[in-house]
Amino acid sequence: MSNTSKNTPKVGIDRITFATPNCYLSMKDLAIERGIDPNKFTVGIGQSQQAVPPNHQDIVTLGAQAALPLMPYIDSNRLKMVIVGTESGVDASKSSALYIHKLLNLSSWVRCVEVKEACYGGTAALMMARDYVLTHPGAQVLVIAADIARYGVGTPGEVTQGAGAVAMLVSENPRVLQINNDSVVKSAEIQDFWRPVYQSTALARGKFSTEQYIRMFCDVWQKYSAENDCNFNDFEAICFHLPYTKMGLKALQAGFEANSGASLTSDTRERLLARYQDSTQYSRRIGNIYTGSLYLGLISLLDYDYFRNSCDSSEPACDSPEVSCDSSSAANSNESPLHLSPLLPGQKIGLFSYGSGAVAEFFSATLVPDWRSALFSNQHLKSLNNRTQLSVSQYEEMFNSAAPYSPQDFVSSQKNRSGARFVLDSIKSQERNYRSI
Ligand code: CAA
Repeated sequence: MSNTSKNTPKVGIDRITFATPNCYLSMKDLAIERGIDPNKFTVGIGQSQQAVPPNHQDIVTLGAQAALPLMPYIDSNRLKMVIVGTESGVDASKSSALYIHKLLNLSSWVRCVEVKEACYGGTAALMMARDYVLTHPGAQVLVIAADIARYGVGTPGEVTQGAGAVAMLVSENPRVLQINNDSVVKSAEIQDFWRPVYQSTALARGKFSTEQYIRMFCDVWQKYSAENDCNFNDFEAICFHLPYTKMGLKALQAGFEANSGASLTSDTRERLLARYQDSTQYSRRIGNIYTGSLYLGLISLLDYDYFRNSCDSSEPACDSPEVSCDSSSAANSNESPLHLSPLLPGQKIGLFSYGSGAVAEFFSATLVPDWRSALFSNQHLKSLNNRTQLSVSQYEEMFNSAAPYSPQDFVSSQKNRSGARFVLDSIKSQERNYRSI
């Protein structure tokens, strides 16, 4: 692969973690309530649970919560930018990065901005961060991809809702992944999914949007493989933007079909499908987090490799009832494969980002030595396992009590605050009031 030469400076993801609300809904319960066969949701769409945000949570509180574990690694003299990628912005003018900057008590001497292009915003932020660090050696950039995916009660998109934020610290000599200089990006004005500024729920041409996603994947993959003189065999894993876990699989299979005459080996096909299952474990339990979904998939890929391979080490990796070294454990249930060899430094991971509207990008990242020691795997699993399960009526009540997109005053609920470190307390005279708890 020509563009990923030894001379490329090492810049990439130093740390990566996520936060998600402490409440969830079972997709089986939702299907039964809506009079739908649960297998459609759990198998056909590929979602088991959905994160449900209490109304004191929004992209600001989730973004700050996600970034909190990164604070010990942020050097206030080196941090130069905070970039939030989101399509659930709380203000059409002011950047959510500024609210997060205040909640985290970050240095004043940084640039705070928000970027938007549907689910592609997180990748745009990551690429801006990478380019900045390349031209400003020594700098750190905090990238946050935060969203609340809302389609509406009883809509076809309801099963794919979700909420959460991914935080990434980007720097030189990263401890997790080096981002390679090989990306291919494509833009095309398409009306597949959008959200007018006056409403909190998205509008989607569902089937059309899935077709555009697949078409854009095939287009960028074809150009990427030609420009970088590579094929699927060169990748240990490929992570996808995951609006629901079946979506990336459809694109991967379309890519395999288009490449079936080329050198795609059965080993590669099996490996990429198995790694794909690892990359979907968290999304299956959280749902779509729009800008963060691709990176939630990346975290899932790395964490599930960690869970499988760290049990014999001195560090206790498997401290959750959902994960044990026993091959029959629940951690390995959702088709997570057991026959995979451990991920190794130097291996390349492909990343496909898709934002409706639409922008798509394919790029690669390479695992660096000792990457496992920089993960937050156990904390991630704990936060998911400690969530409160809601009934469908509780979920509907929460959905309908979200902070309004209108000038009226709002006071958030005191319920379901456990585990939340930041809350939206109120909106008074059209000003949002956040605080740490
Ligand atoms: N058992 C098992 N499978 C079943 C089943 C059953 N009883 N009943 C149906 N299924 C399967 C169907 O065969 C279908 O599988 P395939 O896609 O493999 O054919 C699958 O379940 C879904 O069924 P439908 O196509 O009938 O589902 P739907 O019409 O209710 O809508 C959807 C699905 C279009 C994804 C809808 O949820 C939606 O509009 N979602 C929001 C838009 C979206 O996520 N688009 C994705 C691309 S755009 C993007 O990526 C940006 C973003 O984040 C939004």
